[in-house]
Amino acid sequence: MYKQIKNILFKLNPEYAHAIALTLIKFVNNLNLTRLFFKNTPSQSFPLLNLIFPNKIGLAAGLDKNGDYIDALASLGFGFIEIGTVTPKPQKGNPKPRLFRLVEHEAIINRMGFNNKGIDYVVNRLKKTKYKGILGINIGKNKDTPNEKAVDDYLLGFNAFWRYASYITVNISSPNTPGLRALQEKESLEQLLSALKNAQANIHALKNKYVPLVVKISPDLTDAALEELAHVLLAQKIDGVIATNTTIHRDITHAHANETGGLSGKPLQDRSTDIIKKLAGLLNNRIPIIAVGGIHDEASAREKLNAGAQLLQVYTSFIYQGPSLISKLALM
Ligand SMILES: Cc1cc2nc3c(=O)[nH]c(=O)nc-3n(C[C@H](O)[C@H](O)[C@H](O)COP(=O)(O)O)c2cc1C
Repeated sequence: MYKQIKNILFKLNPEYAHAIALTLIKFVNNLNLTRLFFKNTPSQSFPLLNLIFPNKIGLAAGLDKNGDYIDALASLGFGFIEIGTVTPKPQKGNPKPRLFRLVEHEAIINRMGFNNKGIDYVVNRLKKTKYKGILGINIGKNKDTPNEKAVDDYLLGFNAFWRYASYITVNISSPNTPGLRALQEKESLEQLLSALKNAQANIHALKNKYVPLVVKISPDLTDAALEELAHVLLAQKIDGVIATNTTIHRDITHAHANETGGLSGKPLQDRSTDIIKKLAGLLNNRIPIIAVGGIHDEASAREKLNAGAQLLQVYTSFIYQGPSLISKLALM
């Protein structure tokens, strides 16, 4: 079924096709017809971050930036859903075109640039959501916020979303917001994470809710930068790491290969696994790892778990393969 729909969708421009696909999934869910089209996902509970995940396959950030499709996406059987990246103020993102399919490689290049409707809109969506499962909310900074003031933007995100989030992801690894990745460097990272840990402790003390803080990192870190980053994560007692975001490197040839932006999908697989292996060695089981980057079948999912990850997320392969992928990977 997804194959037929995909044949039509892939004839349209990618950004438009994403919007139509999400609207379709929502429409089917609203009519309570999801089970007619998609298989039930087997569940195998897995405890992590003080939460019980119904399976290890989550949806990565970026597909549902504004929380418009949470109930519909959850109906497809994901063990957890991550929405965002959300910035304090709404922003349009980069000019179009900014999303490119590299079909032969089952890959995508995007330079969306955190297009999103901002915190207030997303909080309103969350109030209307019926989903009771595990929800990650991924936060970022506005493009026009200088890095010296980035902490303020992330605190706005944390303070707006703690009530609704099972965990909050601190995104400092998108290649499409100029300067964002510099927040992964020691001093900026210490400053950012200690402010967020304070906010987390305050909410824990005042509201008796501990919201795990998870940091999403780039696949393009050097060994030295990764080592320094791991030390900061440990020192700050961060609850989890998502590895990885998209890469700016290109080890492929394709008509779109030179488009600026982050590459995801199959060509990201090895780079992401390599970072996870190194990170697992540095963290030594003291911080759990959520793997993302090029997971597209059982073997690539198993590879991430063997590298040291506890949970998995997908984005690009979900676009290429559709919902059947989820049930295939749910029993890992
Ligand atoms: C079109 C697109 C938009 C994305 N937007 C975000 C985002 O807003 N925030 C984020 O943390 N990651 C974002 N990502 C990165 C994904 O969450 C994921 O880390 C990356 O694509 C690697 O996984 P994959 O190979 O399974 O796609 C985006 C990816 C794509 C393809």
